[in-house]
Amino acid sequence: QILPRFYHEKVIDHFNNPRNVGSFDKNDPAVGTGLVGAPACGDVMKLQIKVDDTTGEIIDARFKTFGCGSAIASSSVATEWVKGKQMEEVMTIKNTEIAKHLSLPPVKLHCSMLAEDAIKAAVKDYKTKRAKSNVDSEAEP
Ligand code: FES
Ligand code: FES
Repeated sequence: QILPRFYHEKVIDHFNNPRNVGSFDKNDPAVGTGLVGAPACGDVMKLQIKVDDTTGEIIDARFKTFGCGSAIASSSVATEWVKGKQMEEVMTIKNTEIAKHLSLPPVKLHCSMLAEDAIKAAVKDYKTKRAKSNVDSEAEP
């Protein structure tokens, strides 16, 4: 049991029952991987999205976080929020919204920042991979 006195119950819920924990194959062309770290504390978050190529919709998400309870809760919320959304839409998710949702105290803001950064990195990775595979396939005879 983590310190309930310092954490809002939503944090504890996401910490004890994190949603969408796990990994996708990062070489899958439909998968975008965001791997980010917080220099301040050394915590690391990996967030992956699975994208429907034709619609651009994020159909699934996974995370693995080596970090504090707030970082785990933030990544869990982030995976919940990105599912079913367009990539453009999730680029506008702000860490402050995640922090507010979880009632994170100011000292834990950087934990939610990891989640915002990880979402952006995952979308960027997906787009980079896709652009590359388009170039590759155009290069084929
Ligand atoms: Fe989990 Fe809102 S409490 S997404
Ligand atoms: Fe660094 Fe939470 S204390 S991510």
